[in-house]
Amino acid sequence: MNQSNIRNFSIIAHIDHGKSTLADRIMEMTNTITERESKAQLLDDMQVEQNHGVTVKSRTVRNRYRDDNGQDYEFNFIDTPGHVDFNYEVAKSLAASDGVILLVDATQGIQAQTVANYRLAVEAGLKIMPVINKVDSPNAQIEMTTQQLLELDASFDAESILQISAKTGQGVHAVLEAIVNSLPAPNGDINKPLKALVFDSEYDSFKGVIASVRIIDGQVKADQELLLMANSAAFTNKEVGIFTPAKAATKQLAAGDVGYIVTGIKDPHLVRIGDTITNQNTPTDEPLPGYEPAQPMVYAGIYPQGDYNEMKDALNKLALNDSSLQLVPEVSDALGPGFRGGFLGIFHLQIIRERLKDEFGIEVLTTAPNVTYRVHLKNQPNVLTVDNPIQFPDFEQIEMVEEPMVKAIITTNDAELSAVMKLADQHKGIFVDMGNQGSLVELTYQMPLSEIAYDFFNKLKSVSHGYASLSTTLDGYKLADVVRVDVQINYARVDALTFVTHRTDAPEQTKQLVHKLKYTIPRRLYPMPAQAVVEGRVIARVDIPPLRKNAAVNGNQYSVSKKQALLRRQSINKRQAVKSDVELPQSVFNSILDLN
Ligand code: GTP
Repeated sequence: MNQSNIRNFSIIAHIDHGKSTLADRIMEMTNTITERESKAQLLDDMQVEQNHGVTVKSRTVRNRYRDDNGQDYEFNFIDTPGHVDFNYEVAKSLAASDGVILLVDATQGIQAQTVANYRLAVEAGLKIMPVINKVDSPNAQIEMTTQQLLELDASFDAESILQISAKTGQGVHAVLEAIVNSLPAPNGDINKPLKALVFDSEYDSFKGVIASVRIIDGQVKADQELLLMANSAAFTNKEVGIFTPAKAATKQLAAGDVGYIVTGIKDPHLVRIGDTITNQNTPTDEPLPGYEPAQPMVYAGIYPQGDYNEMKDALNKLALNDSSLQLVPEVSDALGPGFRGGFLGIFHLQIIRERLKDEFGIEVLTTAPNVTYRVHLKNQPNVLTVDNPIQFPDFEQIEMVEEPMVKAIITTNDAELSAVMKLADQHKGIFVDMGNQGSLVELTYQMPLSEIAYDFFNKLKSVSHGYASLSTTLDGYKLADVVRVDVQINYARVDALTFVTHRTDAPEQTKQLVHKLKYTIPRRLYPMPAQAVVEGRVIARVDIPPLRKNAAVNGNQYSVSKKQALLRRQSINKRQAVKSDVELPQSVFNSILDLN
């Protein structure tokens, strides 16, 4: 199709503002899918997405639309995730788009992710079309939302802000017309050498890596000699095609198109998101700028509950589809061989656990998550980067430690302001700025990532009765007074339970932890002390009671010889406990996470 009749766009919004619902409605009104199919929320088709009702992975769909003047158009839209953990997916989608629909829920108005995604779109130089959703709801505040949008961007014009209900379809026809009339067409040069942006990829065991691409210049057919520029990887592509949303092979893709290229490459590491595909013989002179690889925010050990090899296979397959998941093999004394996973956030970690279960039937243990520390050692010039608490050096060797910080922007309303500020304060937030975003207050804090990475978001939702929202960006490293906490059960260190925390929080956290261990560690025939050790000192201790009665205490009921036999058995058990062999159910690790 002629480029002037193509529109490539993304829908961006705060979580739950209705992106997937609007996407379904558009597919339905362009006859891409039937109403029955859309009932099954075609785009959110991963099991985890249906469980949580959120989009995790971006998806691309081509729609055909005949406008009111009888002209045919091709719409490629990319549905993007809204959860703060998945911002990376949003940036990838925007790089392949020429314009965005900025969708705002009229019952909530502008929220933190609305602003964060709006800024990403401005940075990407995209045309932005504001749309107000959920106008059918009795709680819709259309006036207020319009006002907020005008304050967000002075170039918006109140008259042209569309008001729709993605649910009922009201006003969605006007959105389709506005896509034609106000979003720009691509303007690549079809006669130049091929220049295609890889904005996503997936792995197929038969076809190898399938790259989602936006063709910037030139054209591509099947069986051509192509080149991935970042790794200078040459390949002959097997197929090209479009997303309908299922993959459908086509003869060619040309400048302006969005679709896929079957690379046939079996090593997924060769196909980097953000890379440029070009012709081997007539390469483009300049690759596209690409974008920064995803940066993990939190790390956690992943260990099998069953077979290690099965877990490894499943994890590797998941990583092929989720370029932001990082995996490095590691071995724990307590849990055996496993992996250190790097995640975009706790929600991402939870999603990975659930996908392993839903898609592969595999249950895993995940250790308490942690952030990366930069440890400066005494009399040594180089700095250690520690993303596993077990590798955190002994305190005698440490000169100083730096921890990662984030800039956190919290949007809330006046009524919840003091509760939100109190929470930020409890989490070591350093107040930076306060401003207004329409009727909402926008607070800026600098906070340790470790304070925000675990369940700050849930607490924020709870103290603000669901009103406050959060957006974060990494903000360098800062000096921190943190200590390594070792956990011993029956006098043996359990390496998988080691964690790093702020010194001031250690006494209270370890007190709670040992108390929880008392109820989560499976009991033995003999009592076992559980203790937390910081810098060589035990700072918290509790005894895990025995499964049966203790002979030394309760032996009076037994004959002398029976009592002696019991005592003998208990002391043998004690002597054996040099290396810990306690069972560690997931609840034990959860009890560390709960502390933060
Ligand atoms: P994420 O994918 O998690 O970012 O969410 P989303 O933005 O895709 O939201 P989704 O489309 O899943 O909609 C969230 C909720 O809002 C669902 O319960 C929808 O049924 C509801 N919803 C969406 N659009 C409308 C609307 O126009 N009116 C009303 N009343 N509810 C809507």
